[in-house]
Amino acid sequence: MKAEDIKTIALIGAGDMGHGIAQVCAMAGMKINLYDIKQEFVDKGMAKMKASFEKQVAKQKISADDLSKMMGNVKGFTSLKDAVADIDYAIEAAPEILDLKIKIFKEMDENAPKHAILASNTSNMSITEMGKATTRPDKVLGIHFFNPPVMMALVEVIRGQKTSDETMTASYELFAKMKNFRGPMVPVRVERDSPGFIFNRINAPVGLYLAQIYEQGLVNPEAVDAKIRSIGSPMGPYETMDFSGLDVYMHGTEYFAKTLSPEFKPANWLKKMNEGKTLGKKSGKGIFDWPEGNRPQIDMSKADPNFDPMDIICLQVNEGTKLLEEGVTGSAAEIDKAMVNGGGSPFGPFALAKGMGWPKVTERCEAISKKLGVKWFLPTETLKKGNVQI
Ligand SMILES: NC(=O)c1ccc[n+]([C@@H]2O[C@H](COP(=O)([O-])OP(=O)(O)OC[C@H]3O[C@@H](n4cnc5c(N)ncnc54)[C@H](O)[C@@H]3O)[C@@H](O)[C@H]2O)c1
Repeated sequence: MKAEDIKTIALIGAGDMGHGIAQVCAMAGMKINLYDIKQEFVDKGMAKMKASFEKQVAKQKISADDLSKMMGNVKGFTSLKDAVADIDYAIEAAPEILDLKIKIFKEMDENAPKHAILASNTSNMSITEMGKATTRPDKVLGIHFFNPPVMMALVEVIRGQKTSDETMTASYELFAKMKNFRGPMVPVRVERDSPGFIFNRINAPVGLYLAQIYEQGLVNPEAVDAKIRSIGSPMGPYETMDFSGLDVYMHGTEYFAKTLSPEFKPANWLKKMNEGKTLGKKSGKGIFDWPEGNRPQIDMSKADPNFDPMDIICLQVNEGTKLLEEGVTGSAAEIDKAMVNGGGSPFGPFALAKGMGWPKVTERCEAISKKLGVKWFLPTETLKKGNVQI
């Protein structure tokens, strides 16, 4: 199938990501089948889509006519069978639980037309395993949008072990044509199905580092966020955890603990917050308070002078060299492109660390590993040899 043949897309799950991805697809003129397990969740997803489009009408970015056309193309479903009956493409955006996703892929495969491509918006999990649950693993891939899809440009297009070139190309071209509220979407090819793909994998050691320095009482999250925002980032790392949901973050760390290293197992503070349903923005309180869903007030005067953002960059570069060694992507420049478009930074980690020199980056990773007692931070052979082109 070619990108231009894709006209009807099912979104499986109408939550934060499902309704946002549905908006981006609706803006490209697609017909949307929006599915969730209960009518109230479908209605909530549709209401959020409409409210978000209405804000664009108020700002005169789209017309009221565009809004009614786009919303007129969205149909709600509580039967998965019916939701995928007439589609060309499906994107699953259900909770980050592999067994649940496998079940959904089996059911989509049984009911979708034979030509349809089936994608998962999983943050980290195995596309290959989802493909195995179907009779069409060549047409199964990962399509990873970032939160919120109407603002963030990156879309990782992820190849599972059996994904065909045709599926990769059709998907890449489909999303390369789309735009969100800020501008064109930026798809990046991920050539190997590896935990966390590019963006989340590069940030996996950062999450572990932030969890550990907080757990070991070395920092105050507000002071770290103030420091990171003072150098131009629109959102600090602890606020980002709250924004995405501490449940989503914990599922991610549990998955990395299983697939990458036991060192990723959730920190005690994170487990406690999840037990108490203190999940961040979605519950009104997380690491910070989110009054009525509004962003937390970060006191910029508290910026931590001892927190060096280059520690994070060095850990990201080291992780990037692991992706190069594993063949997940072919170049440091592609990793930087993903990091710029999936996050708020104007530069990727390789571009930022290049001036420091790879021997210094290597030394820094060794020092962080020793200080926190985490082996995962030890530098790779590629980094030690300075074998990085950028
Ligand atoms: N939130 C983020 O920042 C983010 C970013 C990128 C990717 N993701 C991934 O997107 C997926 C969805 O995350 P989210 O943040 O939208 O979660 P969410 O909790 O906001 O939404 C999940 C939706 O799935 C529905 N659901 C539950 N069981 C289902 C089933 N059996 N079939 C279909 N739908 C079902 C829920 O009712 C809910 O509406 C996850 O895989 C997550 O890892 C999340």
